[in-house]
Amino acid sequence: MILVTGATGGLGHQVIDSLLTTTPAADIAALVRDVNKATDLRERGVDVRPADYLDYSALVQAFQGIDKVLLVSAVAFTDRVLQHRNVIDAAREAGVKHLFCTSIQRSSNFVLTEVTESDLATEAYLKASGLVYTILKNGYYWEGLAYLIGSEVPHTEIRFPAGEGKIAFVRRSELAAATAALLTSEGHENQEYTLCGSEAYSFHDIARELSALAGRSITYQDIASEAYKEQKIAAGYPEIVANFFAQWGAATRHGMLAGTDPTVERWLGRKPASLREYLKTTYFPGS
Ligand SMILES: NC(=O)c1ccc[n+]([C@@H]2O[C@H](COP(=O)([O-])OP(=O)(O)OC[C@H]3O[C@@H](n4cnc5c(N)ncnc54)[C@H](OP(=O)(O)O)[C@@H]3O)[C@@H](O)[C@H]2O)c1
Repeated sequence: MILVTGATGGLGHQVIDSLLTTTPAADIAALVRDVNKATDLRERGVDVRPADYLDYSALVQAFQGIDKVLLVSAVAFTDRVLQHRNVIDAAREAGVKHLFCTSIQRSSNFVLTEVTESDLATEAYLKASGLVYTILKNGYYWEGLAYLIGSEVPHTEIRFPAGEGKIAFVRRSELAAATAALLTSEGHENQEYTLCGSEAYSFHDIARELSALAGRSITYQDIASEAYKEQKIAAGYPEIVANFFAQWGAATRHGMLAGTDPTVERWLGRKPASLREYLKTTYFPGS
């Protein structure tokens, strides 16, 4: 039986959606911290099990009879390492055979505050745990682009502190489909995969494509991190969040998300969403 954590969140839920296309619901379990948010999963026959990453004994209970666990990483600005260690220890105690764990893509050695340090600590802990592991270094979601540049088509320019850096964006649903395929196939013992797009795009590329779709000139301005933070704060974001978005700009500038990899494409059996496809369906729906 496969258990997916974070099953009420975007990625975990979409992994279960994908698993249900190939695997009987009776062989799928969902770890959730609020069962009221998982009614649809229960209605589809998924075994919904309650536990918080911070509740060790509930985790051990939830992992009974499970062969494989997908640990969907905890959210930033929480004690991610403690939560991930709890999941790893509880899985081992409950006799889980194989733990898959999500992490962030690392195509350079840039350390992203609140994310990379805890990912590195988790990966080291998992490797030393004695569990069979698979580490999934996930690329930046296309769905996260709106956090960086806004959810409306910019009037004349994109202002972001990423230099000439590129991102191998990937749709979260495509990441989920590839993850489900890995969970249900053989041969991933103690392997690490980068799950990202097959092409990487700069913010100049994004501006060019938006210009073509909008029929007017939209350019990309590489601005200083401080100016970007001020812009985000003025738009209503708390300073801590504005800082975090600016960090993604620095990560992009330093190539952390730039490497492309064929793994998602291989498991999807087609090319992941391109820049034009994503921008057209998201920023120009119905056009
Ligand atoms: N690669 C990227 O671009 C990117 C972007 C954003 C995040 N991430 C990382 O990838 C993870 C999955 O992304 P996502 O889009 O699915 O995030 P999401 O929609 O925020 O989902 C996070 C899931 O984790 C669950 N969770 C959080 N804290 C928990 C705890 N203490 N105990 C048990 N469950 C807990 C949440 O439960 P509730 O529903 O109860 O809140 C939710 O189901 C994120 O958590 C983050 O680490 C990656």
